[in-house]
This record gives sequence, C-alpha cells and structure tokens, in this order.
Amino acid sequence: MKQTEEHSPLKEVQALLEENQAPLKELDEWDDFVATRYRQGKSEEEFRNYKADANPTVTEFYRQNHKYQTLDFVLKKKAEYCGLKRGKKSIWEMAEYLNTLVDDSDPDTDVTQIEHLLQTAEAIRKDGHPRWFILAGFLHDLGKVLCLYGEPQWAVVGDTFPAGCAYSDQVVFPEFFTANPDSEKPEYQTQYGIYEPHCGLDNVHMSFGHDEYIFRVTEKYLPEEAQYMLRYHSFYAAHRHGAYRHLMDELDEAMFEWVRKFNPYDLYSKGRERPNTKEILPYYRELVSEFFPDKIDW
Ligand SMILES: [Fe+2]
Ligand SMILES: [Fe+2]
Repeated sequence: MKQTEEHSPLKEVQALLEENQAPLKELDEWDDFVATRYRQGKSEEEFRNYKADANPTVTEFYRQNHKYQTLDFVLKKKAEYCGLKRGKKSIWEMAEYLNTLVDDSDPDTDVTQIEHLLQTAEAIRKDGHPRWFILAGFLHDLGKVLCLYGEPQWAVVGDTFPAGCAYSDQVVFPEFFTANPDSEKPEYQTQYGIYEPHCGLDNVHMSFGHDEYIFRVTEKYLPEEAQYMLRYHSFYAAHRHGAYRHLMDELDEAMFEWVRKFNPYDLYSKGRERPNTKEILPYYRELVSEFFPDKIDW
C-alpha cells in the first residue's frame, strides 16, 4: 500500500526522535512558570495574560504536553505505573533518589527537590495545620521520580487536564490541543466525551504525571483530603478557574476546598529562606513513620 507523504508513520517516528523531548533546563522551570503565572496580587485579567510569563522553552514544553497526552497514552501509563510494580522503597530512599534531579541546576540559587518539599511542609506547619496536611506538603512532588524512570518531561509535570472529553480553554495554551490526535475524534470532543455528567473525578482519566503517580503510591496511608491534594495539585483549570465542574461529584466539590487550601503553599513557599534540613529532619522522620511502614510499593 502506498503511503501519502503527510501521513507516513515513519516520518512521524523520525520527527519524534529528532525533537528535543527535554525542552526545560530542569523540571522546576515548569513550577517556576506556574508560580509566576499566579503571582500574588495579580488580577484575573493578568492571569489570562500568562503568555507574557512563558519563555520559549516553557512554551515548547506545553506544545509537547498537549500534543502527546492522548487518552491512549494516559491508559498505557496508568497500566504501567499504577500497579506499583517497581519494587519496595522507603519514602526517604525515594526522596534521596529524587534529589539526584538537581544536577544541572545552580546550587546557589536553586533549592533541591527535598528542600522544596520541606519548604512547602514547613509553611503548612507554621500555619498550625494538622499533621496529615504537613505530610501532604512533604510528599506532594515525590512523583517526579517518573523523570528518573525515563519519562519525558511532558509526562511528568505540566498542568493536568481530563483526557477523553472536550478540552477547556481554561487550560493554559489550549491552542496546542489541535495537534493532539484525540482532537480529531468526535466522540472525545463533546463536553462529556467518554464520561457521564458528574461522574466524579475518580472516574476521569487525567493527563498522566507526577500527581497521579504519588497519589497511587500513598493513597492507602493518607486521609482523603490529603489524597486529593496530591492527586489534583496540578489541575489548575479546575482548582484555580472552576473548569470541569460538569464532571465533578459532590465529594469532589467538597474535597477541592482542600486542594485550594494546599495550592498557595506549593506556589509561594519557594521564595522563603532555605530550610535548616538538619534541624527539622527528625520531625519529618517521625511524621513519615506515623503514617507509613518502612517500605512501600512504588
Ligand atoms: Fe507538583
Ligand atoms: Fe510542588
């Protein structure tokens, strides 16, 4: 069979291989963009102007994320990782492992991954929140180990969104969804797509990334509020802009209060002074062992 020029699968594979799949200098470049996007004191109007805050690498990152996060891809990654078949490790072993991600960043200005987790958790602790809330702060980005498993940046970080239904224009760079093969599938492009009205987010396949993975790893050890914080902390279209409520059920509506409560700690704790790791570590060791056994499945 003769293949037409523009639909040659070989060409597509070649293009993918030639594309730089790691446009961000480091994963934190995405986190920094989100923090700038929601800088405190900004108006709604300014939020909508997010492109002014996006440099070319962040823009390229979103182009890839929106193009490749198809429903098929999400289902494949969930099958690969959510069964937790990568062995037993302690939270601390994984935190140390995640810390190896800092290699090419500037040690003077950039906080390490563990420092970001501790800063988030310490800010929560200072406000007198319950221990499980502090713990959620400490755990929330551990799913970024996906990057060390070899996943491309666009499958680890980025604003998350439901796959298998119409894309909301409240997701950043919605124009990049036109390159996603799912946008050609009419059954995925109705308001509800493959879902039922108010089916509950637990039944919705979110674009894959560090949120879903850390939720799966920790879910049976944490209260539901903390599970929501971990699972939806990058779902900005919903928790910041109120999109996708037509898929949410009453439990989601109630639990998103907690996702919203968590978000400022994630966004705004970075500018604070570096945590005195040595001094606070004993507290976190005790906190982690209050909720987790020594080794858990990853
Ligand atoms: Fe995160
Ligand atoms: Fe974070």
